[in-house]
Amino acid sequence: MQEEKVVSSEDGGGRLSRRSFLNLAFVSSLTVLLSQWGVAVLRFLKPSASAKGGYGGMVYAGKIEEFPIGEITHVLAGRFYILRTEKGLLAMWHRCTHLGCAVPWVDDEDRFHCPCHGSIYNKVGEVLSGPAPRPLDLFPVVLKDGEVWVDTGNPIQRARFEPTQITPA
Ligand code: FES
Repeated sequence: MQEEKVVSSEDGGGRLSRRSFLNLAFVSSLTVLLSQWGVAVLRFLKPSASAKGGYGGMVYAGKIEEFPIGEITHVLAGRFYILRTEKGLLAMWHRCTHLGCAVPWVDDEDRFHCPCHGSIYNKVGEVLSGPAPRPLDLFPVVLKDGEVWVDTGNPIQRARFEPTQITPA
C-alpha cells in the first residue's frame, strides 16, 4: 500500500496535502460547472432582454398593413401572436400559462386551443376553460415608422383583458 505523501506542515505555513488539493480542485470544478449549467437553464427559461433581433429581444413583426383588422397572425420567430383590432395591436406570447406548451390558434374554432391539457383562450387571450390559470401573457408592442416591433424580453402577466393593453395603431 502506498502512503499518501503529506506536503503540509504543522507550522502553519499554509501547505495542502495532495488529498486536500484534489478535493479543492474537484469542488472548484464542480462549482464552475454548476454555475454554467445554472446560467444556461435561466437563459432557456426566461427570455433575455439583452438578446437582439430574435426571441428574447426586440423582434420585427412586419409592416402595420400586413396585419388585417380582426385577424390573428403568428410570428413564430418571436413566439407570439399579434391581434389587430380597430383600436390597435395586442402581442400575446404563444406559451400556455398552464405548463408552457405552445398554443395554436385554431381558425375553425375562432380561439386558441392548447393541445396539451385542453385549455381554451379567446381572441384576446382570456381563458374560456382551464386548467390555464390566467390569460396568455403579453409582450409590449412598439410602432416605429409603420413597422411593428415586439419586446419579447419583457412578458407581462395579467389577470384579465383590458382595452388599455392594446397599443394604439
Ligand atoms: S400546457 Fe396548456 S393546458 Fe396544460
